[in-house]
Amino acid sequence: MVAVAAARAEAPPAPVTCAAGTAELRVDGLSKRFAGGAAVLSDVSFAVARGETVALLGANGAGKSTLLRCCLRLIEPDAGRIRLLGSDPRALKAAELRRLRARVGFIFQRHNLVPRLPALSNVLHGALARGGGMRAWFHEAAPRALRTEALECLDRVGLAAFAEHRADRLSGGQSQRVAVARALMQRAEMLFADEPVASLDPAAGEEVMELFRDLVRRAGLTLVFTTHNLRHALDYADRIVALRGGRVEIDAPSRELDQGALRAFYG
Ligand SMILES: Nc1ncnc2c1ncn2[C@@H]1O[C@H](COP(=O)(O)OP(=O)(O)OP(=O)(O)O)[C@@H](O)[C@H]1O
Ligand SMILES: [Mg+2]
Repeated sequence: MVAVAAARAEAPPAPVTCAAGTAELRVDGLSKRFAGGAAVLSDVSFAVARGETVALLGANGAGKSTLLRCCLRLIEPDAGRIRLLGSDPRALKAAELRRLRARVGFIFQRHNLVPRLPALSNVLHGALARGGGMRAWFHEAAPRALRTEALECLDRVGLAAFAEHRADRLSGGQSQRVAVARALMQRAEMLFADEPVASLDPAAGEEVMELFRDLVRRAGLTLVFTTHNLRHALDYADRIVALRGGRVEIDAPSRELDQGALRAFYG
């Protein structure tokens, strides 16, 4: 915790953990080493409260994506405890794990839309994660209620007018907003966004970050996002967790940090 040591010497540390009942995600002592490699995560602990936005920082290869994937058990951790939305993903059977994963929307740097399908069909695919059935694949075949819900999700990201537009004809920013609408269609309670704006130009990136902020505030979602954009971390996150050498080096409210402290962290 080098970078925030000075701030913490003056004031008692802010509560960075939360009461068990309000934590949407709690990670304790998580460790991961890939076969033949060095440890990527060593004894990582942090918690994310309901409705909180947390930015996960760290240099390339610091383990941010691995950490998010371990939380959903897309990667099997070697050790540690995880509590996600009230469940322990490491203790769940396959069907229960699928249900738990469906409650978390995962947004990637590349939006992974089906390029030839319209925006609306791509949003409908969010219903597949929660067992919407294959009729959710093409929007023409989808039950009316699902179509209506998908249109509402597109509306919430400001793209209702683009429902019939093919995904490969949307701009990068619009595509990422469709990916967010797909997570809303999934009825996700929590979003993991792994470098969600890294492929976007500054204006589009800002728009997507504003969209996240709006969704967190209005829909009560909980958000964990990774980024290399320090200003986004400071502006959009309530709290910043930074990894270095496989360990949590900073875990502090963003209001206690500034660009200087974060630049010092990157060294
Ligand atoms: N499936 C895998 N098998 C082996 N090594 C892996 C695997 N996935 C990740 N790694 C290694 O784990 C380390 C952490 O990778 P990770 O992708 O989690 O970093 P990151 O912090 O997300 O980096 P970036 O900012 O570049 O996205 C890297 O050294 C990477 O090469
Ligand atoms: Mg990554």
